[in-house]
Amino acid sequence: MKKYLLILFSIMVLAVLSSWSYKQSDSLSNIEQLGKSIFFDKISNPDNMACADCHGPGVGFTGPDTAINNHGGVYFGAVTERSGNRKPPSAAYATLAPIFHYDSVGGFFVGGNFWDGRATGAHLGNPAADQALGPPLNPLEMNNPDKQSVLMQIASSTYSDLWEIAFGEPLVYSTPEEIDKNYDRVGLAIAAYEGSSEVNAFTSKYDYYMKGQVSLTTQELEGKGLFEGKGMCATCHMAPNFTDFTFENLGVPKNPENPFYHMDIVYLPDGSPINPLGNAYIDYGLGGFLQTVPEYASLAGENMGKLKIPTLRNADLRPVNDFTKAYMHNGVFKSLKEVVHFYNTRDDGSWPLPEVSENINNTGNLGNLGLTDAEEDAIIAFIKTLSDGYPLTSVPPAEAPREVSLNVMNPVTHASYVSFYLPVASHVRIGMFSSTGEKVTILAQGSYLEGNHKVTLFPENFKPGLYILHMTASGQEIVKKIIIAQ
Ligand code: HEC
Ligand code: HEC
Repeated sequence: MKKYLLILFSIMVLAVLSSWSYKQSDSLSNIEQLGKSIFFDKISNPDNMACADCHGPGVGFTGPDTAINNHGGVYFGAVTERSGNRKPPSAAYATLAPIFHYDSVGGFFVGGNFWDGRATGAHLGNPAADQALGPPLNPLEMNNPDKQSVLMQIASSTYSDLWEIAFGEPLVYSTPEEIDKNYDRVGLAIAAYEGSSEVNAFTSKYDYYMKGQVSLTTQELEGKGLFEGKGMCATCHMAPNFTDFTFENLGVPKNPENPFYHMDIVYLPDGSPINPLGNAYIDYGLGGFLQTVPEYASLAGENMGKLKIPTLRNADLRPVNDFTKAYMHNGVFKSLKEVVHFYNTRDDGSWPLPEVSENINNTGNLGNLGLTDAEEDAIIAFIKTLSDGYPLTSVPPAEAPREVSLNVMNPVTHASYVSFYLPVASHVRIGMFSSTGEKVTILAQGSYLEGNHKVTLFPENFKPGLYILHMTASGQEIVKKIIIAQ
């Protein structure tokens, strides 16, 4: 069953991906706009911290403070003396991670969000939606006392009317059921924004190059060749997401400036120290998480020190050239040159000891690559082509006629949406049928403009099970399966 859902999920990701390339404008749907408003709102205690304060759009949705990136690389929370243990990874392209699972054929773990995959996606059907439920309540991050206080801040915000537009009912939080359901919707709205064409933009020079709209320079092309060949980067950071969402221990050293080492004398609300181990703390990554999951605990040992391979999209995006970005889970490296040089020469004895010495990748795809200085620079030039927002100066070639598409997030566990794309304005009808063919409801019927549209689906209105969606538009017909699983 799990496998079936995963296959469906991958199909969905592909479907969504292909529909993105059709998107023409940056206009957001209602739920995406709601998620965006929440993402940039300082919903914290005290009210000084938004998601965007650790995931700034101008730097590819990662840490936006050059001074912090120059040193610890780890951000402090709303309570300003408390810090977490890791560098913020990009919140862009995170929605494309599959649900965390063990690939028993390959013998490795894949997917989830966070450096250790622990936002699995099992709760809301998408790791990024699960992930978004964490920071508002984390005492090291936004530090809100409970879910209700998060909902109250949204209800009293200037964008509160968007909630009712997106979900078809007002934001209420009187009973525990209402609180849980609506807090989950906060996660869904944020993930909708994170999955929108504004965040997962695919507007880099590389993307335009792949569509034949621009050419790469000689150095960028050489870098692309090295990235895929001698440098072996693409064995882990593969296109189009520049990660395969698996986990590896590269043997990256500790970052001695990580403020978490000093969190032995800073306390949580319950009086316990944030990091009782102080300087002796070691980040065990995936293995550390697996230890806490009974089903996977026996596999923890072989995964100690492994971290999720991050996307390289926007790895170089920065507001000005001398803005420092910190790289790796602990922000130990301060430039792409340092990163590439590490891959090239890790095994030459000149680097500090690895943070975790078990399970280091020694399969030959890093450590002693024999790249010249100029080849390192060419790889960096290629990584720079992965920054979104590349200004297209030439007129794009005429595209092939575009087709109607219909996208469904499977399985539907909580309020979610069915989206469709129309190449031209047309009459649309989307019927929902039981697996035996009886009509259950009509999700959409009427005339719609050209572009992307979304219909919210409330799974609680249906019996759990398999349904069929039948869409007609512009003389085309699309049939998709949808699974309601509450
Ligand atoms: C205080 C800084 C901070 C704040 C505030 C914060 N984050 Fe993060 N975020 C992090 C760090 C650090 C990680 C990595 C943590 C880990 O791996 O254990 C992370 C991880 C993530 C990831 C996972 C990306 C991936 O590919 O695995 C996403 C998505 C994300 N954050 C989105 C959000 C959203 C949405 C909010 C607001 C609700 C938010 N963050 C608030 C620091 C922050
Ligand atoms: C064996 C898999 C593997 C290979 C091969 C690989 N990477 Fe990575 N890459 C990772 C992992 C895992 C991390 C995170 C490691 C950590 O945080 O300790 C990472 C991190 C990075 C980062 C930092 C990104 C961030 O957001 O902090 C960059 C940049 C990078 N890799 C570039 C490259 C380049 C360039 C190459 C080829 C020279 C390469 N990688 C080869 C797995 C790999």
